[in-house]
Amino acid sequence: MGKIKNIVVLTGAGISAESGIRTFRDTGGLWEDHSIEEVATPQGYAANPELVLRFYNARRAQLGTVKPNPAHFALARLEKSLLSKGGYLTIVTQNVDDLHERGGAENVIHMHGELLSQWCRACDHKFRSDAAFTLSSTCAKCEGVGKIRPDIVWFGEMPYRMDTIETTILNCDLFVSVGTSGAVYPAAGYVQMARGLGKQTLEINLERSEGSHFFHESRLGKAGELVPQWVEETLRQAGT
Ligand code: OAD
Repeated sequence: MGKIKNIVVLTGAGISAESGIRTFRDTGGLWEDHSIEEVATPQGYAANPELVLRFYNARRAQLGTVKPNPAHFALARLEKSLLSKGGYLTIVTQNVDDLHERGGAENVIHMHGELLSQWCRACDHKFRSDAAFTLSSTCAKCEGVGKIRPDIVWFGEMPYRMDTIETTILNCDLFVSVGTSGAVYPAAGYVQMARGLGKQTLEINLERSEGSHFFHESRLGKAGELVPQWVEETLRQAGT
C-alpha cells in the first residue's frame, strides 16, 4: 500500500458488539426479537408509536451501561495522528450509539441517526436528550405533545449527509469497513464506489460480509483485536 493520508472507515454494529450492544443480523441479534417493519419503518411508527418509542427508549437507556472498546479508542488515535499530518480520518457509522465519540473520535458521521437525538414531528426541531419518551412527552420548543420520534433513519427514509460521505470517499486513499454485514444500502455500496474511484479497500469483520469480494483485503476476527492491530500498522507506516 502507498502512503496513506486520508482514510474513511465505515462502521456497523459489529464494532460495538464487544461493548455489549447487540448487532442486528447475527444469532441473538435485534432483528430476531423484533420485526424491522414494526420498529424500524415510518409505517411501524404510525401503526404503533408506543411500541417504537419503548424499543428506542430501551436502547437509549442501555447506552449508560456500555463503554467504548479498544476498536473505538484505536480509531480515535488514528484520527488524531492523521489530522496532525494534514490528513483526515472520517468515521461514517451506521451505528446509532455514541461509542465512537466516547472513545475520543470527533469526525463522525451518523448516517442512520443517533439514539441521543430526538425529532419533534410537529415543528421539525431536533434536540439532544438521553431521556425516555412517551406519547405524553412535550416538545420544549413548540410544546406539541406526543410528536417526538427518535432521530433514527428508518427503512424507506434517506440516510443523512450522503453528499459529504461521497466527497470524503472521493478524497480518501483508503476505504475500510468494520463490523458490518453489508446488507443495507447505500452503506453497503460504498466499497464499490471506492473501488470504482481506484481507492485501496480493506474489510475487518468477524466473517465475510455480503460484499466481501469487492475488497482488496479481508481480515476476519474481532474488531476489538484487529482494529487496534491495523491502526498500529498504519501509524507505523505513516511514521508516527
Ligand atoms: P449487522 O447486524 O447486519 O451486521 C453486523 C456484522 O458485524 C456481521 O457481519 C457480524 O459478523 C459482524 N460482527 C459481529 N461481532 C463482531 C465483532 N466483535 N468484530 C467484528 N465484526 C463483528 O449490522 P450492520 O451491518 O451495522 O439500520 O447493519 C446495518 C443496518 O441494518 C443498521 O444500521 C440498522 C440495521 O437494520 C437501521 O436501523 C436503519
